[in-house]
Amino acid sequence: MGFCPQCRTAEALTESVQAPATRARGSVEVVGATDVRSTVRDRTPVGLTEFDRVLGGGVVPGAVILVGGEPGIGKSTLLLQIADAIAGDAGSVLYATAEESVHQVQMRARRLGLRSSGVKLATVYDVDEIIATAIEIGPSALVVDSIQTVSSTEIGGSVGGTSQVRESAAKLIAFAKSSGVPLILIGHVTKDGSLAGPRTLEHMVDVVLYLEGDPDLGLRLLRSVKNRYGSINEVGVFEMTSEGVTQVLDPSGLLTGRYDMNAFGNVLFPTVEGKRPVIVEIQALVVKTDAPGPRRAVNGIPVARVHQLLGVLERHVALPLHTFEVYVSVMGGFKITEPAVDLPVALAVASAYAEVPLRRTAAWGEVGLTGDLRPVSRSGLRRSEAERLQADPMVSPDDCHSLLDAMVKSGFVSVAG
Ligand code: TYD
Ligand code: MG
Repeated sequence: MGFCPQCRTAEALTESVQAPATRARGSVEVVGATDVRSTVRDRTPVGLTEFDRVLGGGVVPGAVILVGGEPGIGKSTLLLQIADAIAGDAGSVLYATAEESVHQVQMRARRLGLRSSGVKLATVYDVDEIIATAIEIGPSALVVDSIQTVSSTEIGGSVGGTSQVRESAAKLIAFAKSSGVPLILIGHVTKDGSLAGPRTLEHMVDVVLYLEGDPDLGLRLLRSVKNRYGSINEVGVFEMTSEGVTQVLDPSGLLTGRYDMNAFGNVLFPTVEGKRPVIVEIQALVVKTDAPGPRRAVNGIPVARVHQLLGVLERHVALPLHTFEVYVSVMGGFKITEPAVDLPVALAVASAYAEVPLRRTAAWGEVGLTGDLRPVSRSGLRRSEAERLQADPMVSPDDCHSLLDAMVKSGFVSVAG
């Protein structure tokens, strides 16, 4: 500066260079990659089968788990129940909420019929206060609802902004790692995942789970998209009821419980969610119309796939679908993107058109533009799940080469007629 800012004396400042701190040699512990001590982790099952499945067996000490999902999908409800399960008979879990008053969460807890009093609630907005409270209580797990609404006075930027969210998370993660207390962060994501937060946090945490489902329907899927302690693509299935989120141990049974084998326009489809086969019902309806460009309405499947299948049915099976409105739906709110859904959709539409019931047919396979059938992954898994639910016949690329073959096998006698 050339002068001292306090006494204004010129040239009073002298430069001194501080030597960099010398590092103590060997202060970093190096261990062998296969040393047992560095690989064994004691997992504690939470006791909720569907949640433990997604985690790969249970909660690891100091693990940081991010649970993302759209607002209103049921994150707070699920996590309150998980907190209750973790607290169990002896422990305590700190549930820090920056979204709701303690009273609101208590009302929810009462409605859910929490079994343990070990869940400790606190409305806190400041990250440092959350950590201080956790140090005081010494919980067996810490839940923060949500990471977008907590902040730290030491960090600049608006609450919910990228830097606040990242730095707040970093502080909480550092606490989890140093204390060994498992940390569960709740984060909101919008449909396009644009909200600051969960997406940018994914690489900072150990486990990333997303809770999905149609908010208007009961079914919820909890998916693991990242897991440092287990395999990804695990799926837990839950149902939102008036008593909170309940586990669905047999989703196929739930989804096909109302299947009417005497109706036409429906068929069973063994889809694979993560590594888990789930049988869903595909329904189709066709309605004669004279209007040009008849309506196509699709639920749960990409609409472009259905358009393509209608083209194949028109051209290769001679169904005059251009004079029909077509509706296709995956029942139960499941979203299906895998090409294996082609065959069941085509069969359901043909069944609706011809008024031929498919009874308990289970079908899977990709349909090509020439009306050929193409193999899809995990056929064996699909088959065994379909067998478990007494599906018959099974129609798939394993023994049918074309859509016409598949139609004959599932009970259509004369298509052209
Ligand atoms: P919530 O857990 O608050 O969602 P999020 O934390 O993801 O925003 O749950 C939202 C919806 O769940 C709310 O519309 C009410 C419904 N709900 C039930 O259906 N059953 C219940 O037992 C509870 C507590 C909530
Ligand atoms: Mg919530």
